[in-house]
Amino acid sequence: MTVQLKKTVAATGATPITVVDRASFQALAPKLPAPTRHWLAVNGFKGAADTFALIPGPDGKLGQVFAGVAGMNHPFALASLPLGLPEGDYRLSDDGLTLDAEAAALSWELGAYRFDLYKKPSRAPARLLLADSPLAERGLAQAAVIAATRDLVNTPAEHMGPDELAQAVAVVAKQHGAKFKQTVGDELLKKNFPAIHAVGRAATRAPRLIELNWGSDHHPRLSLVGKGVCFDSGGLDIKSADGMRQMKKDMGGAANALGLAALIMAFRLPVRLQLLIPAVENAIAGNAYRPGDVFKTRNGTHIEIGNTDAEGRVILCDALAYAAESKPELLIDMATLTGAARVALGPQLPALFARHMDEARDLVDLGLKVDDPLWHMPIWQPYKSGIESTLGDLVNTGKSPMAGAINAALFLDHFVPKDVDWLHIDLFAWNSESRPGRPAGGEAQTVRTLLAYLEQRFA
Ligand code: BES
Ligand code: ZN
Ligand code: ZN
Repeated sequence: MTVQLKKTVAATGATPITVVDRASFQALAPKLPAPTRHWLAVNGFKGAADTFALIPGPDGKLGQVFAGVAGMNHPFALASLPLGLPEGDYRLSDDGLTLDAEAAALSWELGAYRFDLYKKPSRAPARLLLADSPLAERGLAQAAVIAATRDLVNTPAEHMGPDELAQAVAVVAKQHGAKFKQTVGDELLKKNFPAIHAVGRAATRAPRLIELNWGSDHHPRLSLVGKGVCFDSGGLDIKSADGMRQMKKDMGGAANALGLAALIMAFRLPVRLQLLIPAVENAIAGNAYRPGDVFKTRNGTHIEIGNTDAEGRVILCDALAYAAESKPELLIDMATLTGAARVALGPQLPALFARHMDEARDLVDLGLKVDDPLWHMPIWQPYKSGIESTLGDLVNTGKSPMAGAINAALFLDHFVPKDVDWLHIDLFAWNSESRPGRPAGGEAQTVRTLLAYLEQRFA
């Protein structure tokens, strides 16, 4: 952790950071010593978010930092500092705005995140000494989970196959005293997960259904399902080179669902949690599933394969049917499911499909509030005819190229009984461009929003 929680931080000799926004800086500036005021003016510092200024002390060494933030509880408030400031120890000074401790801890840690599995970083992040508090700890817990989620997504497929993904779940299960199990390879057929098996059977690394269970029988059941396609070549309907380039991240739904599960357990939400991750590699070999094949899935539905690249909904249909068997109070799936959702909403906005309008509104509002947004799209039943099959019940591609994300949602909808409260999130799990605290690469999306929602709903 780059943030160190201490009983007291004032007497540590750490460089003080004065936190301001534009308005508070305008009020503070006239009261500053003239040299400091002039130096800030020369450097054009006005308290804008994500800007900072270094102030020398009388000896010419670093004496003070001014940092601009977007808000007192902004989750990325301090994110540009850990890798922007010189190495060393810092503390938050009393003369500026009082940042929310959760935001301070979270934003500093997120700003220090780098994926350093292979390339060793050239510098250490600056350290923040922060007064210990439950809120600060809550911030650190979230940051640790977000970093772990990003690491899973960033790790190349060679080192993050179905087995490694299962091991990552096992580690989290152990941390929190949860039960872990997995159904691997041909066992999937015996235990009636034929769709997961079909997609994963051509890979040298065995497909599986990973399962974690935690919590008391007395609490309401919550099921989380994450798409765990460790690499999506497209299968026989092979992707283009460009389309395949980032497909190590096609287990981003699984990484995010695991992250959310970890926070639910860390904060001991009063739920009975089930996490399900169908984990496969969508590979090409002589035994690969083919366009035109028909499979009988777990709940008896016959699905026709229109395109082997629409593999996510195929593995998810068995996992969702299985999740629904235990009649959860709420079922949430997260998946890097369609390019169409990205065409519609771009990289920053996961698409939310919900059965109940009020839940969707709550989630969209919460997402904006905690700066972890998602946007509501419809499970538009009139389009269902577009995924009907002549050979079987459903096709995994739409007859029309329009409304691709809705078609995928409608396909999944078929496997979740109507009386189950179900949320489907079609996400990117990736930052295309770097922003403070959000470097280009793997990303946790909607995890903080869903946590806030679940705390509201179940606590
Ligand atoms: N994993 C992809 C979806 C994806 C692509 C997500 C790029 C994020 C970025 C998924 O398995 C897929 O290939 N979907 C196809 C479905 C189509 C064949 C019906 C798509 O969206 O093009
Ligand atoms: Zn695909
Ligand atoms: Zn995919």
